[in-house]
Amino acid sequence: MNLSPVIAPSILSADFGNVSREIERIHQAGATWIHLDVMDGNFVPNITFGAVAMESFSKPEGCVFDTHLMVVNPEKHIPAFIKAGADVISIHAEATEHLQYGLKMIRDHGAKASVALNPATPLEALDWVYPDLDMVLLMSVNPGWGGQSFIAPVFDKISSLRQRLQDRGIDIPIQVDGGINLKTIARASLAGTTHFVAGSAVFTVKAGDALDEKDRLETYRKNINGLIEEATRDQLV
Ligand code: DX5
Ligand code: ZN
Repeated sequence: MNLSPVIAPSILSADFGNVSREIERIHQAGATWIHLDVMDGNFVPNITFGAVAMESFSKPEGCVFDTHLMVVNPEKHIPAFIKAGADVISIHAEATEHLQYGLKMIRDHGAKASVALNPATPLEALDWVYPDLDMVLLMSVNPGWGGQSFIAPVFDKISSLRQRLQDRGIDIPIQVDGGINLKTIARASLAGTTHFVAGSAVFTVKAGDALDEKDRLETYRKNINGLIEEATRDQLV
């Protein structure tokens, strides 16, 4: 079992007025993965940003842009997001007729390929694409918003996916996205999650809050370290 969980703060809960600064803060606070939620107003009701906006986000040295495409027909946009700095791209199995093609395209353009599954989508959606995967993202909320509660049956789904990967001799990260906080992360970790997206649990300071820069950074650091501690607690026994 991986003893160093990866926390990927989701900038969905950050100050959108200054994304690059928030990314820099999160990086300084200890995160190397930055989760970028792209929503098209079609696969999910909200719209966030596209590849053109993403190109303007500055990426600190050593940072991984973990790009979660909640868009229909994601294969149309893959080259643009990789050009914009995406290192890992998750595409939804529910959003494309051409899953294997999309995954291959991600790798062909030099990024890591991942499939995202909504909470009610069966793991069988992965059955014919295992060789094409560098990661699997299991949604633990219905995509579209930050700040929702973890959907409990997904804990079993994580264990079941870890088992399937083991049965096939595949050692890739399982990332879980939605409702990750100090109460849910330990159980998700024990079930086999290695990579955790956390939006509202990290960005507990809001843009307008009267906090100086040092305190804001310290809060992010404390939130990230708290999650890591909870995720590893039961594994160190
Ligand atoms: C939801 C997004 C998530 C979201 C998670 O559609 O994919 O990445 O930001 O937010 P929290 O951690 O607040 O549930
Ligand atoms: Zn996400």
